Amino acid sequence: MKQKRFLLPAEEIPTHWYNIQAEMTTKPRPLLNPQTHEPVKEEDLFPIFSQEASRQELNQTDAWIEIPEEVRRLYSYYRTTPLVRAYGLEEALDTPAHIYFKDESVSPVGSHKLNSAIPQAYYCKQEGITNVTTETGAGQWGTALAYASKLFGLECAVYQVKVSYEQKPYRRGMMQVFGAQVTPSPSMSTRAGKDILTTDPQNNGSLGTAISEAIELARTTPNCRYTLGSVLNHVALHQSIIGLEAEKQMELAGEYPDTVIACFGGGSNFSGIAFPFMRHTIKEGKKTRFIAAEPASCPKLTRGHFAYDYGDEAGYTPLIPMYTLGHKFQPASIHAGGLRYHGAGSIVSQLMQDGLIEAVDVGQLDSFRAGLLFARTEGIVPAPESCHAIAETIRLAKECRETGKEEVILFNLSGHGMLDINAYHQFLSGSLTNGSLSEEELAQSMVDIPIVK
Ligand SMILES: Cc1ncc(COP(=O)(O)O)c(C=O)c1O
Repeated sequence: MKQKRFLLPAEEIPTHWYNIQAEMTTKPRPLLNPQTHEPVKEEDLFPIFSQEASRQELNQTDAWIEIPEEVRRLYSYYRTTPLVRAYGLEEALDTPAHIYFKDESVSPVGSHKLNSAIPQAYYCKQEGITNVTTETGAGQWGTALAYASKLFGLECAVYQVKVSYEQKPYRRGMMQVFGAQVTPSPSMSTRAGKDILTTDPQNNGSLGTAISEAIELARTTPNCRYTLGSVLNHVALHQSIIGLEAEKQMELAGEYPDTVIACFGGGSNFSGIAFPFMRHTIKEGKKTRFIAAEPASCPKLTRGHFAYDYGDEAGYTPLIPMYTLGHKFQPASIHAGGLRYHGAGSIVSQLMQDGLIEAVDVGQLDSFRAGLLFARTEGIVPAPESCHAIAETIRLAKECRETGKEEVILFNLSGHGMLDINAYHQFLSGSLTNGSLSEEELAQSMVDIPIVK
């Protein structure tokens, strides 16, 4: 029988995360203080994040950072995750391509987000913090942080983007099961939320706004820190666990990927699967394509500007050198809530500039079409976000059918869609739109990008 799943024992959970910053030929530009426009120092971040996360954020020298033993122990609750050969999908596409996926949907919360929630909560606990806040879109990150907070006895408050809060009641329920307090954003509980609701009471919310609200709560609550589930360098670092395992598993399969694909929100699951392989491109000149698949309605990599911009709507965060659609960007209400973010992390943005990363955009209908085929051939219902990676995988596999090339394609299945069945139902009943973005809307949101000399 052909081997379908490639598994590693828990002892093979990596002992170190991989920090690509240390090995990049051109380092990402520094984060800037929003008032002075001077580079941010570790201490500047301490009031917002845990100190260790702040150190990791700015670490451009150590390629390998040790994973604390307690974090490895908690990783072992669900890691290592399987690498799977998608024979069913290959057969349906009649493609000579070899398609593999790394299955992050098996985590207790259903996505890769727990890989960073555990260490972030751990560092907060170590440093005597009692409360954490965050934002969430579809609810995957919020759920992960809610669970991780419970593991370490922290109080957790989550601002969930209003449209997702309403679209995805089960994800909200799951955060509450894990004991988190969940508030739809924008809300009247913060200045940032009030400012928006006063001018636009029907505002659907965005990740940028929810971040502003969570940061404001962290700043005004004693012994509280903010945590972020994407975009930042330390999150990409934690997610490298995905690619480090996948590297060993591809070895077990006797193959090396020609192309690595992941969906793209702020870049954490993409970075996680891609960077350990990209290391060989940087160091040994291996020829691998790295493709980020983003929604057509939120196309920061394919149509955004590379500029300094805020990570949040209200402008509380440091200025980040990023591909951005403008921090005031209000994305369409697509079901892939985790991809509705205006910017890309600074590492990914620099790697895009350096030509190491390619990006494609995928319409909502194409993404669900791909997700459906995957579900029907592999038996796993993918998260709407992951469907974007699957759509690009299918496109490439069809190309291989034309060229006859036996390409090895690896994609990251960032999460399952068992709590997104309503979205599939809407797709099947024909009530979803593709969610594109007009030139006019794009130009309008770019106006708000700050000028940095
Ligand atoms: C299942 C899933 N995949 C992907 C993403 C996108 O985030 P990132 O680009 O940080 O991986 C999210 C974000 O919420 C998600 O929930």
